[in-house]
Amino acid sequence: MSKKNSIPKHIAIIMDGNGRWASKRGLDRSKGHLKGYENIKPNVIYAKKIGIKCITLFAFSTENWNRSSKEINFIFDLASKVIYEESKFLNKNKVRIIHLGSIDNLPEKMIDRIKKSEEMTKDNKDFTLAVAFNYGSRDEILRAVNKIIDSRINTQLSEEDFESFFMTNMLSNPDVVIRTGGEKRLSNFLLWQSAYSELIFFDKFWPDFETHDLDLVIDEYNNRIRNFGS
Ligand code: FPP
Repeated sequence: MSKKNSIPKHIAIIMDGNGRWASKRGLDRSKGHLKGYENIKPNVIYAKKIGIKCITLFAFSTENWNRSSKEINFIFDLASKVIYEESKFLNKNKVRIIHLGSIDNLPEKMIDRIKKSEEMTKDNKDFTLAVAFNYGSRDEILRAVNKIIDSRINTQLSEEDFESFFMTNMLSNPDVVIRTGGEKRLSNFLLWQSAYSELIFFDKFWPDFETHDLDLVIDEYNNRIRNFGS
């Protein structure tokens, strides 16, 4: 297969390194999350401008509950800002917002806000911002299996049938998964869905990730040969 010149449809991002970004500057970890939050809008707007159709952000994993309650509350407030306060702006820009993850253990107010912004933006077809919040891939797969058991399906399933039980069922699989912050693992993020994704790692921390880096991602994507095992 030859090199191509195409824009990936779906990019998923593990926004890692907020805490280290702050510590390096002698700041509280919350300042890193704030900076990370502020970095979302410019990258989403740029992604949409260059023709990407979907960005999925890993914002809070099922493992992040181990953090201090102060840090958890801070991240929850920022998530509410993305999901709720920014939803009018995102709606105006024809962005559909969807939540990936479990609503178990989320505050009622947040669940209500998630539902409202998903409802308000549901007809936007140009671009999707999927926020993985209280998300874990193993949890998603296990929930799919349990739903199948509950629905008493007793026929053999195809991969497509199985995927239809996932939280990501209205999204295409990510063409690219980016992880910032220097670690080179998926950390329970979209494990099934990323089977054929290009994995691109950045040493820089998420607050330092710039729109220019998205251009580098696209160049790298185009330099890789995707043959899906054939
Ligand atoms: C990882 O960095 C980042 C997080 C766990 C939180 C990400 C959240 C935001 C950017 C704000 C909210 C955004 C949305 C879309 C809801 P880390 O804290 O693990 O950094 P470290 O590895 O340096 O400690």
